[in-house]
Amino acid sequence: MRADDARGLELLLSKPYLPADFDQEVFEALWTVWEEPLRTVAEQATVEERRRMAMERYGFVPHPRDPSRSLQYVVDSEGRWVMSCLACHQGQVRGVPIPGVANASYALETLTEEVRLVKVNQRKAFSHMDVGSLMLPLGTTNGTTNAVMFGVALMRHRDPDLTIVNRPPRFDLVHHDMDAPAWWHYRRRKSLYADGFAPKGHRMLMQFLLVKENGPERFHEWEDDFRAIEAWIESLEPPRWTGDVDRAAAVKGEAVFVDHCASCHGTYGPAGVYPDRIVAIDDVGTDRLRFDALTAKERGDLNDSWFGHFGADAEGMRDRESPIGYAAPPLDGVWASAPYFHNGSVPTLWHVLHPSERPVVWRRSATGYDDIRVGLEVEELAELPAGRLLPSVRRAHFDTRRPGKAATGHDFVDALTEAEKAVVLEYLKTL
Ligand code: HEC
Ligand code: HEC
Repeated sequence: MRADDARGLELLLSKPYLPADFDQEVFEALWTVWEEPLRTVAEQATVEERRRMAMERYGFVPHPRDPSRSLQYVVDSEGRWVMSCLACHQGQVRGVPIPGVANASYALETLTEEVRLVKVNQRKAFSHMDVGSLMLPLGTTNGTTNAVMFGVALMRHRDPDLTIVNRPPRFDLVHHDMDAPAWWHYRRRKSLYADGFAPKGHRMLMQFLLVKENGPERFHEWEDDFRAIEAWIESLEPPRWTGDVDRAAAVKGEAVFVDHCASCHGTYGPAGVYPDRIVAIDDVGTDRLRFDALTAKERGDLNDSWFGHFGADAEGMRDRESPIGYAAPPLDGVWASAPYFHNGSVPTLWHVLHPSERPVVWRRSATGYDDIRVGLEVEELAELPAGRLLPSVRRAHFDTRRPGKAATGHDFVDALTEAEKAVVLEYLKTL
């Protein structure tokens, strides 16, 4: 790691860029609003055990310098917790944090609801997140968030140079949840996001800071920090699979992959080439809500704002503002980035390869990993559990029948025989 890259990581771990969400006292009391029997278990547990339970419930990753607190939040000078980029962009695989892997367990909406209840009990003021979540869904399934629409909603109150203007809120936004992409793809990609409309650049990465507390001068002041943060993201390497691989099968799998997959996903190894292809929405056939949710004007307005150097960054890629579909992502380290597709609807690579076997409803275990099917360890269900479900329990289930959550499409794999699928799965482990 070069010095500047290390500085980027350090900023993500230690510098607050947003107003605080809650304090330590609120965090320590979250268990008091949990459902039974969990509440009684927590009540009888030690403080350390209770913190561990909270970390697991909300999908927090232990902070490298203090495992009793979450790396998702920076603690500010007054001891309050401030959300960071790593909230969504740092998760774990088999219970081990891997730099750049998205947080596939983050329970942002449940956390925010429970923080609000504790604040009422402790007579504390609501934060921007507590209020924002009353107007906008944060994420209807654990591990996915409505992050794209937070950006659109907040951009409404800015001029292109980021001056704050008060406009009435919009009620026509198409809310939908997404699984954040792995950050180690950043170096491979030429443009950003599921539909590839935005140019790369350190300013683009700053959209998440658009809360009204941050005026334009803050963005100018922090630009240099985000050069370092971008350098760190750009330096990330895909993680290597450490389990068993049948080498002979993987070699056969590579040949099948070159024939059936490489035209979209590229080739791998030292001479690998990534084509950065956008595939028409009807051809890829995965859930189209993310595609429909943004208009060409919204895409163009972002590129024409300060974030895109007033249009200069998007020079030569304007056609991408009316994209035809989704980008075929690079597949380096794909074994680690479950669940799959932009909406995180498919739990394992085996399920990607077997469209008709994809579960209707699935629920992952806390940190379990499926070495055979390569991806999340899940319980597969035909239905949600019967009866009235608590919102926190419902969000632990991924229901592919809900808007924006379909696990359909990518039927290209149907051209493969069962034996070919088996060898391709072996090959995918080695990327
Ligand atoms: C609330 C969750 C959340 C937070 C917080 C968040 N992101 Fe993201 N990020 C996402 C999602 C979801 C996407 C996918 C958006 C899309 O493809 O349309 C994304 C996409 C990205 C990408 C593009 C990757 C690619 O390959 O297209 C980068 C880079 C990125 N985020 C950086 C950041 C940085 C830097 C921060 C902090 C300033 C941040 N994000 C904060 C959820 C989040
Ligand atoms: C015509 C282009 C095309 C072909 C051919 C194709 N794919 Fe894809 N693939 C895509 C697109 C586009 C996506 C993104 C879909 C989405 O996120 O909704 C994708 C997504 C994936 C993903 C999920 C990646 C992630 O991180 O979520 C995997 C795994 C994958 N493809 C494997 C394969 C394999 C294996 C083959 C060959 C058998 C293949 N693909 C053939 C276009 C293609």
